[in-house]
Amino acid sequence: MKRSMSATLGLLMMATQVHAGTNPWDDKTLDPDKRADLLLKQMSLEEKITVVDGLFGSVAKLGGKEIDPVPEALMGSAGHIPGVPRLGIPAQEETDAGVGVATQGNTRDKVRERTSLPAGLATAATWNPEVAYQGGAMIGNEARLSGFNVMLAGGVNLTREPRNGRNFEYAGEDPLLAGTIAGAEIKGIQSNHIVSTIKHFAENDQETGRMTVSAEMDDDQARMSDLLAFQIAIEIADPGSVMCSYNRVHGTYACENDLLLNKILKKDWGYKGYVMSDWGADYSTAKAINAGLDQESAWVFDGVNRFGPDLKKAIADKSVSQKRLDDMVHRILRSLFAKGVIDDPVKQGPIDYAKDGAASQADAEEAVVLLKNDGGLLPIKSGLKKIAVIGAHADVGVPAGGGSSMVYPVGGNAFPGIAPTTWPGPVMFHPSSPVKALKSRLGQTEITYTDGADPAAAAQAAAGADLVLVFARNWDGEAHDEPLDLPDNQDALISAVAAANAKTVVVLETGNPVLMPWVSKVAGVVEAWYSGTSGGEAIARVLTGEVDASGRLPITFPASVDQLAHPQIVNFGQERPEPYSVEYPEGAAAGYKWYDKQNLTPLFPFGFGLSYSAYAYENLTAKEEGGKVTVSFTVKNTGARAGKDVPQLYVGHQGDGWEAPRRLAGWQKVSLQPGESKQVSLTIDPRLLAHFDGKKHKWEIAKGSYELSLGSSSRNFAQKTTVNLEAKAF
Ligand code: BGC
Repeated sequence: MKRSMSATLGLLMMATQVHAGTNPWDDKTLDPDKRADLLLKQMSLEEKITVVDGLFGSVAKLGGKEIDPVPEALMGSAGHIPGVPRLGIPAQEETDAGVGVATQGNTRDKVRERTSLPAGLATAATWNPEVAYQGGAMIGNEARLSGFNVMLAGGVNLTREPRNGRNFEYAGEDPLLAGTIAGAEIKGIQSNHIVSTIKHFAENDQETGRMTVSAEMDDDQARMSDLLAFQIAIEIADPGSVMCSYNRVHGTYACENDLLLNKILKKDWGYKGYVMSDWGADYSTAKAINAGLDQESAWVFDGVNRFGPDLKKAIADKSVSQKRLDDMVHRILRSLFAKGVIDDPVKQGPIDYAKDGAASQADAEEAVVLLKNDGGLLPIKSGLKKIAVIGAHADVGVPAGGGSSMVYPVGGNAFPGIAPTTWPGPVMFHPSSPVKALKSRLGQTEITYTDGADPAAAAQAAAGADLVLVFARNWDGEAHDEPLDLPDNQDALISAVAAANAKTVVVLETGNPVLMPWVSKVAGVVEAWYSGTSGGEAIARVLTGEVDASGRLPITFPASVDQLAHPQIVNFGQERPEPYSVEYPEGAAAGYKWYDKQNLTPLFPFGFGLSYSAYAYENLTAKEEGGKVTVSFTVKNTGARAGKDVPQLYVGHQGDGWEAPRRLAGWQKVSLQPGESKQVSLTIDPRLLAHFDGKKHKWEIAKGSYELSLGSSSRNFAQKTTVNLEAKAF
């Protein structure tokens, strides 16, 4: 039906084809709103509907039947929205996601093999927006060279549930860190003159029940946490599109949620781009449209084509106004102009995988967090006789997270066949082997590999080695949450190996925090996350000390499940249970704020990570001028090696709507030679000194004293000072 409609339109429009570069809207000196208006005026009702009505780019299954995509769609892609050739409006070709150009699992074509960044959570662990930007620029370029002009990236849902299967796609538990990192990545993607989304808006904080659950959070607290992460990223990057999420908020689906879309996003934040639905997240025509949804994505997942013929009917019966349809189209065209999609059309071309692999590696290296290093076993000394490497298929590759964001690697899956082999699988290993990378650096050392399936055999292989590296992994992915325990008997494996050899270092490759019942028995722990295309090289470079361990935790590692704000996940294991609610009485006190408020000692706190060097913080001063608080201090490398440190500033205030004792207020990633000092100056975002008052509809800073704590994590402070602030509303 779709195909015949677009074919007919194509014939009708050929007669009135316009010429690129000669139309009023081609004038690049005009602002994108003006250009969108000029173009919109030329469009027929059918053409307007065409650009708001998304098709799936791959083979879909509906009612047990397979449905082919339109032939123009790039096979294996997430979405295709036909263009209007007579007016020079390009088709919108959509690809997932935040770690690189993904392929939908059910394509009949060959999959696209592309470069994968490390997990979004890993990029957040770099605490380095420049690295995030460069990673975004790299994957955006691969999207462009693959023919895509819309990238479904920018995941920024705040970690409230450390078992959320998609945390690895996001940027951790703090709104400033998550918003800054996701914003930088989106900016990098869009530097390629393509649109990036930011997603999943909003409060889509667990995969369990994601299609039916209603998030019940105080709206003011949401503004100070989940929504603040989005707001900060949007301010930094101005993403062309926002993707609304599957879940409900206060009982209303996010994609038909007037409060989220119209009131907060578009009105309060002044967002000028367009809102697209997640795949299967649109439940209505007029209701969703009037609540602020501008484009239906891949309608086949909704089961009904709500923004096609149904929208035409809705215009006719006036349940959707012509003005609102024009606004939807305007927003889409505006983003296509503002991001350069129309002026600089994407073109398929060759990809430089070596260069892109290096960009991914730079990210993966800075993401590695050294959690424990007793006896200084790391960095690995040269001249060791024997290193025993055990587990996680470290002989062939590094694991990736599952679901729509998964990138098929160049060179194929290094360890195929692990269940699930279909959605949200396949379980993927990027063919970058830590063992090979270690061997190429430690030529004189014998390096053995044992798969770890049998703890006793692994213990035997470990006994007598000068160093044992146990790789341990989990498999996080879309559509399911994962327990905090390492799967597949890996805890027993680690304990058995540690009992056989005290020189055991565990290298975690996980998409979330895990519990470590064996932590006191091992000498070292490294969190390497899902490390992407060049993960093996990156891990080896950090383990051998070619580069410093400079990652810091963007997420708290709990000591036990009962420390969590929500020890139990109701309906665990189900994606679409009967509608139900999850209450968030902790409000904005997510992550470390919860631990601080409850006075709990986590296993490893937010912000924590060791370096191979050591640092001192001095001369902390703070001043307030015209309502702006600026803080400065010196950081000095007091160790014997070059390294990178992440001094962190936290602000605390008693009462007045504060959700927890302290909030992250700023940081800087600083590179320092031994003995070198640098002066750091940070300006605090006033929202981090305030609370949101929904009744007054304003952020409010209360008069009083604010404590500023400078340290190396959310739990280790070297210096403190205070500033006194006057009351202020904004
Ligand atoms: C995911 C989105 C993704 C979309 C298209 C959905 O299942 O939630 O993040 O962009 O599919 O693949």
